Amino acid sequence: MAHRKALALAALALIASPLVFAASAFAADVAAGKTYFRQTCMVCHSAEPTDDGGAQGPTLYGLIGRPAGKGDKKFGYTKAIKASPIVWDAAALEKFLTNPPALIQGTAMVEVVAQKRDRDNLIAYFTSLPKEP
Ligand code: HEC
Repeated sequence: MAHRKALALAALALIASPLVFAASAFAADVAAGKTYFRQTCMVCHSAEPTDDGGAQGPTLYGLIGRPAGKGDKKFGYTKAIKASPIVWDAAALEKFLTNPPALIQGTAMVEVVAQKRDRDNLIAYFTSLPKEP
C-alpha cells in the first residue's frame, strides 16, 4: 500500500514539475501588459480614468466581468457586439484578442494581438484593475 502511494506521488511529481516550470517561465506580467496597452490600445481605449485614452473605442474600466458591448453606456457599440452573450473573462479575452471578428462577427474592434505572451500580459493588466474606477 505504501509502495503504491509512493508510486502515485512520484507520478504526480513527474506530471506537475513541467507545469510548474511552464507557469514560472511564462508568468504574465502586469507592467508589460500596461505598456502594451498604452502603446497599442490607448489610442482608442481608456482602461483607467487617469490614462487619457482615446474615445474611438469604449472605455474598458473594470473590463473583467463586464458583459460584451454593454459596459460603456455612452459608447455606440455595433449591433454585433451588443447582441453577443459573452462576459469578459480571461478565456473570452484570449479568443477575442487573437482574432476579434472570429469571436464576434461584425465587430468594429479589429486590433489583433498576435503574440500569446502579449495577450497574457494584457489580460493580467486588465485583471489587476479595480472593478470600479
Ligand atoms: C482603432 C481603434 C481601436 C484599437 C487600436 C483597439 N480597439 Fe478595442 N475596440 C474598438 C472599438 C471601436 C470597439 C467596439 C466594438 C464594437 O462596437 O463592435 C472595441 C471593443 C473592444 C473590447 C470590447 C469592449 C466591451 O465593452 O465589450 C475590448 C475588450 C477591446 N476592444 C480591447 C482592445 C485591446 C486590448 C486593444 C489593444 C490591443 C484594443 N482594443 C485596440 C476600437 C479599437
